[in-house]
Amino acid sequence: MSIPAGAIPVSAIPVGSIDDLTPGEGRAYVVDGKQVAVFLLADGTVRAMDAVCPHKGGPLADGQIDGSVVMCPLHQYTFSLDTGACPSGIDSVRTYPAAVVDGKVTIQV
Ligand code: FES
Repeated sequence: MSIPAGAIPVSAIPVGSIDDLTPGEGRAYVVDGKQVAVFLLADGTVRAMDAVCPHKGGPLADGQIDGSVVMCPLHQYTFSLDTGACPSGIDSVRTYPAAVVDGKVTIQV
């Protein structure tokens, strides 16, 4: 998602430069006391979700992206990058609105 400059929601928190992210990979940030995994997709958009897997606490920021899902590196459950839902039926992961504004990644938590 990309929002125009000047339209940054009041609650959007800048977490870092887009240059710190690698397309197709994730990175974990602490945002307002929460561990949040941020992913840069091949199309230049970003997604954000809780960084801790609800199964057994795996690090989702280290997971592999496959299309619109991320696969937890511990037991390979997948979660939608858009909704956080897990098609295998375990708990979903909370997602957060994320955007790139003036080269900075912003998250609403
Ligand atoms: S800890 Fe993530 S799938 Fe098991």
